[in-house]
Amino acid sequence: MSVLIRPKHALCAAALLTLGLPAASTLAQVPPALAQVDALEGLFGAQPTFRRSGAKGVCASGYFVGNAQGMALAPSSIFSGQRLPVVARFSVGGGSPKASDKGRSVRGLAFSISTPDGQQWQGSSVSAPVFFVSRPEQFAPFLQARTPDPATGKPNPERLKAFNDANPDTLRQAAYLSKAPVPASYASAQYWSTNAFELVNARGESQFARWQFVPEAGLTGLTDDELKTRPDDFLADELRLRVKAAAASFALQFQLARPADTIDDPTQAWPPERPVVTAGRLVIDSVEPGAGGACDKISFNPLALPAGIRPSSDPVLLARPAPYALSQGRRLGEAATR
Ligand code: HEM
Repeated sequence: MSVLIRPKHALCAAALLTLGLPAASTLAQVPPALAQVDALEGLFGAQPTFRRSGAKGVCASGYFVGNAQGMALAPSSIFSGQRLPVVARFSVGGGSPKASDKGRSVRGLAFSISTPDGQQWQGSSVSAPVFFVSRPEQFAPFLQARTPDPATGKPNPERLKAFNDANPDTLRQAAYLSKAPVPASYASAQYWSTNAFELVNARGESQFARWQFVPEAGLTGLTDDELKTRPDDFLADELRLRVKAAAASFALQFQLARPADTIDDPTQAWPPERPVVTAGRLVIDSVEPGAGGACDKISFNPLALPAGIRPSSDPVLLARPAPYALSQGRRLGEAATR
């Protein structure tokens, strides 16, 4: 059977090839979430029972206390000032449970806050102010371009260059991480949502914002000498020891956008002079002694939002729940059959 390619479709395929993305015929066959999760498995290998991204990590718990400034921006019981229970997970970027804690990837902070009136706020953030794709369709080809060719054991250099040249926005996160110190502790890194959200106040007025967790202990990174001497696994034990001595805490801040700021591209940071409002405090006072814990059953769905906080039109944000659910389904299914 012959397939008629209409000029419009031919143009789409040509445009995708220019972008360094697979042709439309390939994309059309694979639902995006499946392509994204399969690409994570392709790069990091099949890692049964583990998250396909943020595979290495530790579950923790504590509480969140919101304040009046948070309430003024987003009227929700999240900001009532009551102590609200939190399940949190700290992680190392990528889909390998054996990733080195000294790697120049991101560290992650995911959280789930619950209120007595049944609201929930879930989210995850990374230790970089920008994400590595501005559009969800770049996610799978970004990883595929970095996946070793079985014949050489290395990524195909031409393919990688073609993708990078066609998608310079996907290099911004790595450029930031190459200059940032490697965090010395999960509790001394700053974490950014990178995605924008819409805050709607009691008068119905809208304000776009990104949130960030700023460690109250200050930021500390590893020196070159410390990088040489630290083992590949130290972050989880460091957090356990630290929290046994005293709780670890973070200020929750909203960075407020101006009307001209881009709200639909998480690879673009907003100017640092944008106002920042502290809306609450996250306190971590307990860390799981080993693997597992309450985090296993949670996928920290970034669209599980409380009253007053809405998704923005950021396509990366809107695309996240499907691959999270798929990864969660795979890992919980694998755990159940062990
Ligand atoms: C199209 C974009 C994205 C895709 C396809 C994607 C995919 C995934 C998947 C499949 C998981 C594992 C979920 C699970 O098994 O529970 C995950 C976890 C995670 N993602 Fe994303 N992600 C995207 C964007 C983002 C963004 C914008 C951020 C934050 C800036 C982020 C931060 C994280 C973190 C920190 C984790 C680990 C969460 C945990 O500890 O459970 N991701 N992601």
